[in-house]
Amino acid sequence: MELLEMHGIVKSFPGVLANDRVDLFVRKGEIHALLGENGAGKSTLMNILYGLYIPEEGEVYWEGKRVAFTTPEEAIRNGIGMVHQHFMLVQKMTVLQNIILGLKPKGHPLLNVASVAAEIRELSEKYGLSVDPDAVVQTLSVGQQQRVEILKALYRGARLLILDEPTAVLTPQETTEFFKMLRTLRDEGQSVILISHRLSEIMQVSDRVTILRDGRSIGTVETVNTTLEELSRLMIGRELRTGGMDLPQADYEAAPLMEVKNLTLAGKDKKNRLEDITLNLYPGEVLGIAGVDGNGQRELAEVLACIEKSSEGQIVFRGDNIDNLGIRQRNRLGIAYIPDDRHRDGLVTNATLQDNLMLRLYNQSPYAHRGLLQFRQIEESSQQAVEHYNIKTPSISAVVRFLSGGNQQKIILARELEQNPSLVIACQPTRGLDIGASEYVRDRLVDCCREGGSVLLISTDLEEIRMMSHRIAVMYGGKVMGIVENNEDLKLETIGLMMGGKRLEEVDA
Ligand SMILES: Nc1ncnc2c1ncn2[C@@H]1O[C@H](COP(=O)(O)OP(=O)(O)O)[C@@H](O)[C@H]1O
Ligand SMILES: [Mg+2]
Repeated sequence: MELLEMHGIVKSFPGVLANDRVDLFVRKGEIHALLGENGAGKSTLMNILYGLYIPEEGEVYWEGKRVAFTTPEEAIRNGIGMVHQHFMLVQKMTVLQNIILGLKPKGHPLLNVASVAAEIRELSEKYGLSVDPDAVVQTLSVGQQQRVEILKALYRGARLLILDEPTAVLTPQETTEFFKMLRTLRDEGQSVILISHRLSEIMQVSDRVTILRDGRSIGTVETVNTTLEELSRLMIGRELRTGGMDLPQADYEAAPLMEVKNLTLAGKDKKNRLEDITLNLYPGEVLGIAGVDGNGQRELAEVLACIEKSSEGQIVFRGDNIDNLGIRQRNRLGIAYIPDDRHRDGLVTNATLQDNLMLRLYNQSPYAHRGLLQFRQIEESSQQAVEHYNIKTPSISAVVRFLSGGNQQKIILARELEQNPSLVIACQPTRGLDIGASEYVRDRLVDCCREGGSVLLISTDLEEIRMMSHRIAVMYGGKVMGIVENNEDLKLETIGLMMGGKRLEEVDA
C-alpha cells in the first residue's frame, strides 16, 4: 500500500491551469523528489495536500483512507508536515518556545515544558538534528533554523515531511549535512517529499522522482535507473545545455570599468549592512557575487544602482566618481540595473507591457522623432522582446499586474538589456525563470561583455555563477570574504567555506 496517493488533481488559477490531472504516489520510508521547472505546479500540488488549496478535481488517499484536508492544522493532525521556503519561526523566542507555540497540551490542562524539552532532545538525537532547545532563534544560522522547522514538524507527529526547495538557502557543506539528515529520517521509516529543480541534488539524495512539466505529471522514475540527462529531458523536454559558456576575454591590463572602494552602508543597532567592500570590474568581465541569500548582496546592488546611499566609500565609473549621481544619471551613463524584487522596484504594474518596455526609451530615437512617439517602432520592438524572452502574455497591451512573477521579471530584463548597457548590475537575474528564458538571459548578459562592457552578477545559484563568471567574490555578513579566479582548479569547497563566513586566507591556510 502506498502511504500517499494523489489521483488526477486539477487546480486552476485565473488564466493558468497549475495542476492538470496530476498523479503522485509516495511510499513509506522513501525520499521522493518532486522535480520541475519554475511554474511547473510543484508548490500548488503540495499546498493542496497540506490543506492550503482545495482542488477542483481529483482524489487524495492518505494511509489508505480518502482525505481532503481543508486546513494545515488538519494535515498536521494527520501526520503531514511542511517546511516552506520562508521559515515561519518567531525570531526572538527560543527553539523550545517555537516548537511549543500553538500546541495544545495532550490530555493535560498544562503543558509540561521540561518533558517537551526532553522529548525534543530525544528526537534531535535520533535524527541527527542537533540544535540547542534553549537557543534564541535569531542567533541560529539558516541551516539550524531549518532543523528547528523540521523538528517542529516531527514533534507534531509528522510521518511525511514536505520540504519546498530546502537547499536554496544552504551552503554546499550545509547541503551535504542536510542530505545526511534526510537519509537518517528515511532509514527511521519517515517519508520525505523533496521539491527541487536541481538535478544533481535529486540524483544524489532521492529514491524516486516524479517529474512535473507545465502542470502535468510526466512520470515517476527510480533514481538508480535514471540519469541526469534523462531527468533533464523529462523536465524540460530536451537536453540541458551542459558545460561552461563561451566567455569573451576580460581585459585585466586595462583600467577598471568600475571601481568600488571601501563601501560601507550603516544599519540599525551599530551593525553595518555593508562593510568595507572593495571590488574592481574590468572591461569584458563578468564578476560573480556568490553567497547565501541575505548576506548583503541586495544592499550592494542597491548602493551601486543608487537606490540606497552608502555611508562611506566611493564608486568610480570610467575614472569618474559617480557617488553623487542619481539612478537616472547612472542609467544614462550606460549602467543598467536588474533588481531582485520585481514588485518593489522596476515595474509600473498598472501600466501595459509595452509601456513598461518603453519606460527608459520613450524620448530616444527611433522611438521618438521630433517629440512624437513612433508607435510602429515601439510595437515592433515590444513584439520582439515578447518573442526573445518568451514572455507569456495575451498581448503587448496586457497590464503587467496580471502577468505571473516570472513573466514580469522577463519584462525588466528585456527593458534593461535591450538598451545595450556597458555595465549591468544583475541581481538574481534568472530566479523564477524557466530554463529556456534563463539561457537566453545568460547569453545576453555575456554579450554585454563582448564590446568591453562588464556584468556584476549577483546570484545565490552557484552553478550559474560558476558557469558564467570570470572571477567570483563571496559575500558573508555584508563583507567580501575574498575574490577567486573561476577556473578548473577552483574547488566548490573553497566557495562553500567562504559562504559560511571564512576568509579566503583562512581557507587557503
Ligand atoms: N496563488 C496563485 N494565484 C495565481 N496563480 C498562481 C498561484 N499560485 C501559483 N500560481 C501559478 O500556477 C503555476 C504553478 O505555480 P507553482 O505551483 O508555484 O509552481 P512551482 O512550485 O513548480 O514553481 C504558475 O504559473 C503560477 O504563476
Ligand atoms: Mg514552488
